[in-house]
Amino acid sequence: MVVLYGGQSAEHEVSRVTAAHVLAAIDRSRYTVEAIGIDRDGQWRLFEPPADVESLPALPVAGTIVSPPEVFADSNADQLTVVLPLLHGPMGEDGTVQGLLELANVPYVGAGVLGSALAMDKAAAKATLSAAGVPQARWRAIHEPAWSGDEDAITGILHDLGETVFVKPANMGSSVGVSKATGSADVRVALKEAFRYDEWAVVEETIVGRELELAVLGNVELEFSVPGEIVPGAEFYDYDDKYVDGAAKLIIPAELSRSEVAEMERLAAQAYRALRVEGMGRVDFLYEPNGRGFLLNEINTIPGFTPISMYPKMWEATGLSYPRLIDTLIELALDRHHRRSAKRQLD
Ligand SMILES: Nc1ncnc2c1ncn2[C@@H]1O[C@H](COP(=O)(O)OP(=O)(O)O)[C@@H](O)[C@H]1O
Ligand SMILES: [Mg+2]
Repeated sequence: MVVLYGGQSAEHEVSRVTAAHVLAAIDRSRYTVEAIGIDRDGQWRLFEPPADVESLPALPVAGTIVSPPEVFADSNADQLTVVLPLLHGPMGEDGTVQGLLELANVPYVGAGVLGSALAMDKAAAKATLSAAGVPQARWRAIHEPAWSGDEDAITGILHDLGETVFVKPANMGSSVGVSKATGSADVRVALKEAFRYDEWAVVEETIVGRELELAVLGNVELEFSVPGEIVPGAEFYDYDDKYVDGAAKLIIPAELSRSEVAEMERLAAQAYRALRVEGMGRVDFLYEPNGRGFLLNEINTIPGFTPISMYPKMWEATGLSYPRLIDTLIELALDRHHRRSAKRQLD
């Protein structure tokens, strides 16, 4: 098994924490593990994990430089390699690395090229979900090169979405570049911040309600965890809340009725399929109990796996241990690979 971590996105550090935790949890008697860190320049480095890897808070990105073809050259029939891409954000969770793995013809955990790209890009995801009839907050997508930045354009958006909006880069995660903004001057600053990360941004109406999540596993048949709830420590669930001070409260299982859980599962499955997610996904909702009900916020195809992350915690609360979760992800990767390989051989 090859664990890929680090990466060229703003979530490089988060990925290293995730990788340290996953590596410590993998059953080394069942799997041979190679750890490859991708540095900020995109170089792949083979890291030799020490015996006491569980004592590392984050996996270093260090070691001999290797090229991707070299890594996968010896993945043959007698020892099947499965890649676990633990890369968050652009150049990792967005279909780019998945494309490389497709070319190398190696099985890998999680969504494929299209699913990764669609779920990562908030503008493309929202358009696809709206075509599939999945309820969401009202939104606008803005493309920087085509954006006038006129006062009229901004006031028009605020007129449609309300005075207080969320502004986000389309391709990012971990709340990086996300702001809550009120009024046109504030929105202008928020857009500038979002455009630091991507030339596409989305603006959304502010939802006043609960923040709920479901962990999903599967390719065709889907399994759902018990729901989780996030009570942000700051004004919203921002980067520090997620990884630095951990002030957010995580409630697992969330207090919901059976019919509410059933509704969440129904919408999660609909969204997961519409966005072509495979393997795993953490499906995030904003919930207006006395309004429109569950509104889909996003699906993360490579959710955080740190000790305080929701995805593994929700599975643990459902009865699926961390090592069993990894086993299941590997089985799903192989299942998808076999199905796809069968199609490739038809011509
Ligand atoms: N439309 C919205 N209304 C209210 N809160 C929101 C809205 N969109 C995002 N948030 C808050 O901001 C956080 C980060 O936004 P999110 O879309 O999940 O970005 P990321 O992909 O970076 O996690 C959410 O967890 C939530 O706390
Ligand atoms: Mg989020």
